[in-house]
Amino acid sequence: MGGDAAGPGKGDPWYVRAFGPLYPLVYGHRDDAEAERVARLVQPILPPGAVLDLACGAGRHLRALAAAGAPAIGLDLSEPLLRAARAADDRARLVRADMRRLPFRSGRFAAVLSLFTSFGYFETEEEDRGVLVEARRILAPDGLLVLDLANSVAALRAIGYSTEREAGGFRIVEQRAAGAEGRRLEKRVQIFDAYGRSVLDYVERVRLYDRDELAGILGALGFRIIGLWGDYGGESFDDRAPRMIVAANRGSDQPRSERPESQWGGAGEGKGVREERVWSVGRDGNPRVVDRLHDVRLVVHVRQAADPRDRPKLTGPARRHLRPRAGALGGARLTAVAARL
Ligand SMILES: C[S@@+](CC[C@H](N)C(=O)[O-])C[C@H]1O[C@@H](n2cnc3c(N)ncnc32)[C@H](O)[C@@H]1O
Repeated sequence: MGGDAAGPGKGDPWYVRAFGPLYPLVYGHRDDAEAERVARLVQPILPPGAVLDLACGAGRHLRALAAAGAPAIGLDLSEPLLRAARAADDRARLVRADMRRLPFRSGRFAAVLSLFTSFGYFETEEEDRGVLVEARRILAPDGLLVLDLANSVAALRAIGYSTEREAGGFRIVEQRAAGAEGRRLEKRVQIFDAYGRSVLDYVERVRLYDRDELAGILGALGFRIIGLWGDYGGESFDDRAPRMIVAANRGSDQPRSERPESQWGGAGEGKGVREERVWSVGRDGNPRVVDRLHDVRLVVHVRQAADPRDRPKLTGPARRHLRPRAGALGGARLTAVAARL
């Protein structure tokens, strides 16, 4: 252990060394403007209630979410980044903790957001999975989890690629390699001062989860995937997409028959619900059942009404997107929506 001017010491795990005072320099291009795009993407699908920005860093998403009318609590392990978040907004609600042990009561949050590759950091997959177990614990029934990860296929294409650049009077050299038999992206980051002296040298080690693998892990924990995007503009996901942004519903611990009807996404509810399915609506406007993750533009929870004359009462984004589509769904009751067209 033992820190220096650039942050923590050599004995610390990489995710402590990497996210010190120089992190904003290395990732300066991940800025407020990008965070505002993320907020625009997730805001329409946030259920009402408390939101946690898990691994909030210097708080750029907290500010963007607050500006979009969805204030969140930020949690992070890094003191320097939490200080930066505080300096940027003295009213920010911040908690310092490890994402593997969340200091919140069960069911506290309506949504947990893990944004910009803040998952996959630990030595074992079991520890990574433990973060999702904790996230699920603190989510209320039917709460929303958003995981914004690098697209593993695109990330592996960058292996062997090196860059060198100047920022804030420092020279930053980055070299990418694959670790753990191609399942981990290992990026060596070296920072030199104006005299060529090494100030910081560490290796980021991020486990890459592909779409099906992540879907399997989330499914085994009880989550149901309700949205998948390939970038912050809401484009669909494919192998070339820069990001893999997954939205998942926590589900419930109770059997459906014992549950009160869920309110999800602020959309309308009905009585006499017989069945719930998840549909995706393609660009052509036609609904189809989501049986695997693919080209989800608009995810609609469809509840078949016992009485087809029951009209769905829709509010917010649901109203805008679903009214014209209700007919196409053949009298089905539409109760919730994750909208991004
Ligand atoms: C890639 S950064 C993203 C930060 C922020 N979400 C953003 O987009 O600006 C990852 C964040 O995870 C935090 N982090 C790393 N390990 C952590 C841990 N074990 N518990 C909580 N936060 C952690 C880091 O301090 C850092 O702020």
